[in-house]
Amino acid sequence: MTTMDLRADIGEILLTEAQIQARVADLGVQISADYAGRPLTLVSVLKGSLPFMADLMRSITLPVRIDLMEVSSYSGATTESSGLVRILKDLSSSIEGEDVLICEDIIDTGLTLNYLVRYLGGKKPASLRICTLLDKPARRLVEIPVDYTGFTIPDQFVVGYGLDYGELYRNLRYVGVLRPEVYTESE
Ligand code: PRP
Repeated sequence: MTTMDLRADIGEILLTEAQIQARVADLGVQISADYAGRPLTLVSVLKGSLPFMADLMRSITLPVRIDLMEVSSYSGATTESSGLVRILKDLSSSIEGEDVLICEDIIDTGLTLNYLVRYLGGKKPASLRICTLLDKPARRLVEIPVDYTGFTIPDQFVVGYGLDYGELYRNLRYVGVLRPEVYTESE
């Protein structure tokens, strides 16, 4: 069960605030160089990518537009993805002819992005790439062409910096491994 002390529910801290900030700054430099001279549209996949998007957009020196999508996987077990994706919030404007970079917090099975790449690709952007803060390749079910990765992480249940368990822990400044007793107790 989640306690009122978020820090107490975290075992190992996988990525510190400093590590995350340094890597996000690097990604911003790389993306700014790769898209030099071209305006860029960042599409954030809510809710998990909110802190990453906010930091990444400020580390990019190009003119950027942003748009937000919210999707949810239909899921039985809380920590598993089912592959069925539901759009809770769609884009606000057309992305036709734009260079689009999808901004995700984590790629796990790849099912969410597999759906989103096909969905956004159908809207005829000039280009469509993927940037994820975290990649958990051990659990991949479909191959996803990831263009920018912050960190590759092991198959552990992580929360923080946007990632939740039961909608909590997103406001932690770091990424940590949730103690198993938090999600196994009092089910
Ligand atoms: C999480 C995460 C990705 C997706 C990755 O979103 O933000 O969108 O799962 O999993 P996959 O690669 O197995 O598809 P979630 O549905 O938990 O919503 P949230 O971002 O609002 O927490």
